[in-house]
Amino acid sequence: MAMLEVDDIHTYYGNIAALKGISLTVEEGECVTLIGSNGAGKSTTLRSISGLTPPRTGDIVFEGENITRTPPAAIVRLGISQSPEGRRCFPRMTVRENLDMGAYLRRDDGIAGDVERVFGLFPRLQERERQKAGTMSGGEQQMLAIGRALMARPKLLLLDEPSMGIAPILVERIYETIAEINRQGTTILLVEQNANYALAVSQRAYVLETGTVALSDSSAALRTNPDVQKAYLGG
Ligand SMILES: Nc1ncnc2c1ncn2[C@@H]1O[C@H](COP(=O)(O)OP(=O)(O)OP(=O)(O)O)[C@@H](O)[C@H]1O
Ligand SMILES: [Mg+2]
Repeated sequence: MAMLEVDDIHTYYGNIAALKGISLTVEEGECVTLIGSNGAGKSTTLRSISGLTPPRTGDIVFEGENITRTPPAAIVRLGISQSPEGRRCFPRMTVRENLDMGAYLRRDDGIAGDVERVFGLFPRLQERERQKAGTMSGGEQQMLAIGRALMARPKLLLLDEPSMGIAPILVERIYETIAEINRQGTTILLVEQNANYALAVSQRAYVLETGTVALSDSSAALRTNPDVQKAYLGG
């Protein structure tokens, strides 16, 4: 059984169907990418998994437990945390306070050690520990959003467009760190419109089109697929 099994989910906003039968799996230890154009349903898929917009029908099973109707905070406790689209750092809180917010559901004594781990992954955040998040650059805030999600010590990390609006040099840095997080043992489900880096870092990928899975394959195969190159890789 896969770590995450998403089976034929249909998710709605009011009466608008955003997902029309999405199925996918993520194995423990994998990094998997969802690519697709604006409105394809990438964010809605992540929001369905994290419980923010639960599907109307279909099932989501995490480590053997059906979480389709589980509330978001309980899903975080089970080991899934998300870095949302658009970063959503708390702008008036410092870097350190944002990281502490990521651990708010934890009662164990490993929190300080995990702050050190995040600082090791993103030295820039350590330099800016006492800076207000709202005054940092877009790339720095993206690092903080990923760091904050890691502070929940997730088994499965959901990343929604970590490269959006960020200078190429920082995108490269962020993707090196995503690869390192995966190497350290965290399973990752990643969403990107700009598919070049995402397909380089992941092992498998799904292509979403208007709320359905159009294609799924190894990331290596999708990178050389002419249709994917034309639509998503600027080729
Ligand atoms: N809050 C909402 N209310 C109504 N419709 C919504 C809402 N959020 C998303 N949708 C619709 O659901 C569909 C899927 O949106 P979603 O945000 O999942 O796409 P996406 O693949 O993440 O796109 P993008 O690359 O632009 O972020 C779109 O048609 C969108 O208009
Ligand atoms: Mg989106």
